Amino acid sequence: MTAKPKLLVTRRLPPAVTDRLMKEFDAVPNPDDRILSPDEIIAGAAGKDALLVTPSDKVNAALIERLPASVKMIATFSVGHEHIDLAAAKKRGLPVSNTPDVLTDATADIALLLMLGAARRAYEGERAVRDATWKSWSTTYMLGVHMTGKRLGFFGMGRIGQAVARRARAFGLQIHYHNRRPVAPVIAEELGATYWESLDQMLARMDIISVNCPHTPATYHLLSARRLKLLRKEAYIVNTARGGVTDEDTLIKLIEAGDIAGAGLDVYEHEPAVNPKLVRLARAGKVTLLPHMGSATIEGRVEMGEKVIINIRTFLDNHKPPDRVLPSML
Ligand code: DGY
Repeated sequence: MTAKPKLLVTRRLPPAVTDRLMKEFDAVPNPDDRILSPDEIIAGAAGKDALLVTPSDKVNAALIERLPASVKMIATFSVGHEHIDLAAAKKRGLPVSNTPDVLTDATADIALLLMLGAARRAYEGERAVRDATWKSWSTTYMLGVHMTGKRLGFFGMGRIGQAVARRARAFGLQIHYHNRRPVAPVIAEELGATYWESLDQMLARMDIISVNCPHTPATYHLLSARRLKLLRKEAYIVNTARGGVTDEDTLIKLIEAGDIAGAGLDVYEHEPAVNPKLVRLARAGKVTLLPHMGSATIEGRVEMGEKVIINIRTFLDNHKPPDRVLPSML
């Protein structure tokens, strides 16, 4: 019997994924789920064939250079890959794979939850009931804004953006988007989507902005201070992609000053740290905050695990991993 390939798994994985993984590989997922230091990753990687990492691991050039020669591949348990230096991996001849497609719907659901949370003050209302501060129904209490007829502008119209747009259509929102390229005509028609070549012009006209682009060197702070200041006073921002795409400090200042209506955020610029000012704004009912749970469904996690296994297995069997991420995709 040939020995199973050896993996370093940096975090705990759901039990169903762990069981599958242990059938295929010699792998022990991190039992206490503590984030490993670079030195611990290097030590743990000794003699391993591949690394199974997550967005909480910073797989930068310095770490990649120190990896033992036995490591032949890096697979991330995520669709996002901004935590891996793809150019450094390529230089070392290490393919990188991710888990696209299987978390699209879960993330799109959370975007809608945040939109409704922000526009209809869902969490403020829930807290009022929970804290027993709600007195009675009133004509002026907890007034939010309608979703129907509002203009929803997407920054990024890939798989997840499109899935959010499909849901948003059911709420009567008008779909607008800025993307590197317009989507295929059949998709634009299905979504009734208007393409804006100019991000600035779109931002200045929307009621809600949904951030759905990957975080790459090219999209870092693309929603810069200058651009955020273009937003209308009544506008909300929803971000289920990555915090680094927006200038979070400026976003906070604009909400504090009442220059933007509010935000619904699942991701943060300095994750897992959340700016205390955002927490204060959440207490004041100005923003809705979730703990990066866009892809957190049981079904999604199992499918992500399946993708990771297939990618590593395929590569170690001398074929191209189906979800290889290339630096040219940035
Ligand atoms: C991903 O897969 O990139 C998600 O953000 C993790 O939830």
